[in-house]
Amino acid sequence: MHSTSTTTLILALVATVASQDACLQDPTASSCSSFTYSGASSKLTSLCSQPTTKNLPACDWFVSTCSSTASSSAQCDAFSILNAACKDASVGESNADCTEIRGLCKNGTVVTQCQKVITGLPDARNASAAVASICREMPDMASCQPGCPAPSATTLVSDCNVLDVYSRSCLEMPTMNQCAPFTAFCAANNKAGPRCGGASPSAAAPSPTATGKSGSSGASSLAPSFLVGALVALVAYRQL
Ligand SMILES: *[C@@H]1O[C@H](CO)[C@@H](O)[C@H](O)[C@H]1NC(C)=O
Ligand SMILES: *[C@@H]1O[C@H](CO)[C@@H](O)[C@H](O)[C@H]1NC(C)=O
Repeated sequence: MHSTSTTTLILALVATVASQDACLQDPTASSCSSFTYSGASSKLTSLCSQPTTKNLPACDWFVSTCSSTASSSAQCDAFSILNAACKDASVGESNADCTEIRGLCKNGTVVTQCQKVITGLPDARNASAAVASICREMPDMASCQPGCPAPSATTLVSDCNVLDVYSRSCLEMPTMNQCAPFTAFCAANNKAGPRCGGASPSAAAPSPTATGKSGSSGASSLAPSFLVGALVALVAYRQL
């Protein structure tokens, strides 16, 4: 009897893991619409500690505005930041930390969570181009001392923290043409955090990035798995 119940419990665990995997493998199945990805926080932390990706605007945002801690505020939601990072064209196709979220959010996905992304965050190439242009035009600005090296001819990205330099330039001279995308980005995110010249976002801040039902998605979509697990455990227990 003991081995039967143990087996049942193990089968229940395997079934839970398998249902997570099913949506990662085929996010077009209609049953996946309320799927919630559980790996965002750890993938984001990993991505933002790698030498080749730590300077992504999304990673600078995570560190500067969220203190490297995902939270329930829309601007610091781990999924939204990871999604922005992995949509950045400068991140290689084979990047291991992006494999799952890219698969989950591929064309044709029904996963609602995939709509969550930090609104308007400039990607690394755009931010690099903007910073290069600003510092060519206004070389004496404090943010351009020393500013960033020229963007690499192959990656089109500057080897520096581009969002930091972009931010300092645009907080100083917000009317420069090159700052329009940055200003729009900050406006879309409640001017949260030091990069936008505001206070750190609070969990209660309104949610411009999310798509209606971001707040409780984790709990609501985990509930069915837990219910199934509890039911199976109960059945196993009664067999003792
Ligand atoms: C996504 O899929 C649709 C329908 O299959 C197709 O028409 C569209 O071009 C695809 N978009 C991309 C970006 O691949
Ligand atoms: C990058 O810049 C292009 C051209 O200005 C714009 O169309 C695009 O939306 C920008 N993308 C990002 C992610 O910043």
